[in-house]
Amino acid sequence: MPQDAPAGAKARRTQSCSNPNRIIQAFVACTIAWGVGLRHQCIGNVLETAETWAKVHGLIELENVSHNYGGGALLSDMTLSLAPGSFHFLTGPSGAGKTTLLRVCYGELMPSSGEVRLFQKPLRGMSRDDIALTRRRIGVVHQDCQFLDHLTVTDNVALPLMAAERDVAAYQGELDELLGWVGLRGQAGNRPPSLSGGERQRAALARAIIMSPEVILADEPTGNLDWEMSLRLLTLLVELNRMGKTILIATHDMTLIRAAKAQVAARVLRIANRQLQLAGADL
Ligand SMILES: Nc1ncnc2c1ncn2[C@@H]1O[C@H](COP(=O)(O)OP(=O)(O)O)[C@@H](O)[C@H]1O
Ligand SMILES: [Mg+2]
Repeated sequence: MPQDAPAGAKARRTQSCSNPNRIIQAFVACTIAWGVGLRHQCIGNVLETAETWAKVHGLIELENVSHNYGGGALLSDMTLSLAPGSFHFLTGPSGAGKTTLLRVCYGELMPSSGEVRLFQKPLRGMSRDDIALTRRRIGVVHQDCQFLDHLTVTDNVALPLMAAERDVAAYQGELDELLGWVGLRGQAGNRPPSLSGGERQRAALARAIIMSPEVILADEPTGNLDWEMSLRLLTLLVELNRMGKTILIATHDMTLIRAAKAQVAARVLRIANRQLQLAGADL
């Protein structure tokens, strides 16, 4: 557990995510009890079972969502609720629609039919400004993480702050701590082309969480990484989940899923035959 790991979004939704004092506050405020029987999680000051909360208040909810890009159906009648603090994998063969489903989950893609609710608001009724504001609550690590190569790693990680018209100078301490947490402090002043694959993914993760989102969606984040680096990235995502973040990782790496299941109560969703299924214990 790094000492300067970012804090939970519940504690500091409007601020960035790496102040150690807030980490302590977040841990105190957001105790996640992984008990022998019931699995509880902190919602405000109230402990509820994750299952009860999920039924009522998923942060991202899809109801009977179907999508096609103009040809045949790709996603068919999918229903999903991401409960606060939950950890999900999304798996399925290449071309099954994982990236498409993630795009629906962060409001980038309006599905052909069905309802999408982001933080209890129907996506269909949202203005562009609403969607932009809502997306700040969802950090996305894209499959092909792109950077502005003429900017330093720090400035790339700070881009969401600039887009949100925050005073970046006021965040220098937090940026430094965040880069330390992902192990990139030594690369802070370098340009993205000098980063290795694993470093790029960790920079992309830092950029995804600089706005302290409640939900993190990661699209094949370990796709091009060796096993050691994959585990390192997974550890960061598990730590974020322990701080209260809701995590959804698209991957077809079953070994990674097995490794995660030893650390966290992860649910595994699978796209098969255009349907979304909850994968069983066969993984
Ligand atoms: N913008 C798009 N327009 C048309 N077809 C698309 C688009 N994006 C993805 N597809 C197609 O949808 C299918 C699923 O793609 P994708 O969601 O990327 O799957 P996965 O992430 O599981 O590999 C693929 O056949 C892909 O070619
Ligand atoms: Mg994909």
